[in-house]
Amino acid sequence: MKTENDKKWAENVLKKIVNKMMWVTPKTGDKIPYKTMDGTYDDRSDESIAWGGGDGINWWTNGFWGGILWQMYHQTKDDMFKNSAIRVEDKLDRCFEEFYGLHHDVGFMWMTSAVYDYKLTGNEVARKRALHAATILAGRFNLNGNFIRAWNENEQPEKNCTGWAIIDCMMNLSILYWASKETKDPRFAAIAKAHANTAQKVFIREDGSSNHIVEFDPNTGKVVKTYGGQGYENGSAWSRGQAWAVYGFTISYEHTKDMSYLETAEKVADYCCANIPESGLIPCDFCQPKEPVWEDSCGAVILASGLLQLAKHAQAKKAELYYEKALCILKAIVESRSDWTENSDAIVTNCTAAYHDKEHHFNMVYADYFFIEAIQKLQGNTIDLW
Ligand code: GLY
Repeated sequence: MKTENDKKWAENVLKKIVNKMMWVTPKTGDKIPYKTMDGTYDDRSDESIAWGGGDGINWWTNGFWGGILWQMYHQTKDDMFKNSAIRVEDKLDRCFEEFYGLHHDVGFMWMTSAVYDYKLTGNEVARKRALHAATILAGRFNLNGNFIRAWNENEQPEKNCTGWAIIDCMMNLSILYWASKETKDPRFAAIAKAHANTAQKVFIREDGSSNHIVEFDPNTGKVVKTYGGQGYENGSAWSRGQAWAVYGFTISYEHTKDMSYLETAEKVADYCCANIPESGLIPCDFCQPKEPVWEDSCGAVILASGLLQLAKHAQAKKAELYYEKALCILKAIVESRSDWTENSDAIVTNCTAAYHDKEHHFNMVYADYFFIEAIQKLQGNTIDLW
């Protein structure tokens, strides 16, 4: 388990991260980035650009840049990071005003921005924003089938996705657990548990792998079909989806102490651990063909952070395995999949959004977020956000 050497190693990596963020933050200004273009961060809050699905300010990763700034503020107590984080959080209010563009990822968006802010500073405006997001997420729950609806029509224009749920939502449940604790009202957590119970049944397969998308009949609640989603094909194992499952069920266990969630997290973790290559470099899908070799460093760092979280609760032997695998992944990222130069605003390289996309191996802002989170866990200096 964690040794002094690992801690020292993490401390050194964190120094490099802080050094980089000291110049990336003023350079990025008021942008809300998702990825780099020719090394410079783009700006998803710029509505004059028609992003992929037209998501703009509602783009689901728009909380992570603020999250990185809060991570840096927590690390350094430098007000530059805090002031930038507050500006990002303010900008996201436009999503609430417009409302129609919001989806289940309100959890990701306001956990990493507003809840992080509230936990660090006690900012009452941030608390209100996070409760607003939790209320929107709770409103997406469908009693017919007991699941939280993932996306809206504009995100899957060719399909009717009223009955779609995705494994990623396990992470969004955090804001519901947080809202129940904060308001002492069990409604939010009851919805989170109902969704988690459904996910255990319909997403997790016998071998411990997880589906990405499950479609329900939104009127009867019956499962209609499953989809491969961002992975290789239906029935395969999209690695980032596996990571969301490991981390998400661990979080549900932490908030409820329901042992079945811990068992589910371990079942998926065991599947992942059996499939992590010796190199520690994670394929986009654990079932993808040998060629092309699409990697996903983003799934890798989420899995590493999830395994470190799970290691806190697992029995000694399994905890050791999860910790060692997490360390192996993080060392591979630091040694060969990170950019510390001024040629790029981002750190983690070789991320892939979806197996069948045209573009592969680029930076994604949430890879940096979860990379920093995992390194802070190793250093012993993270906040319990999720
Ligand atoms: N939640 C979508 C993704 O992980 O790409």
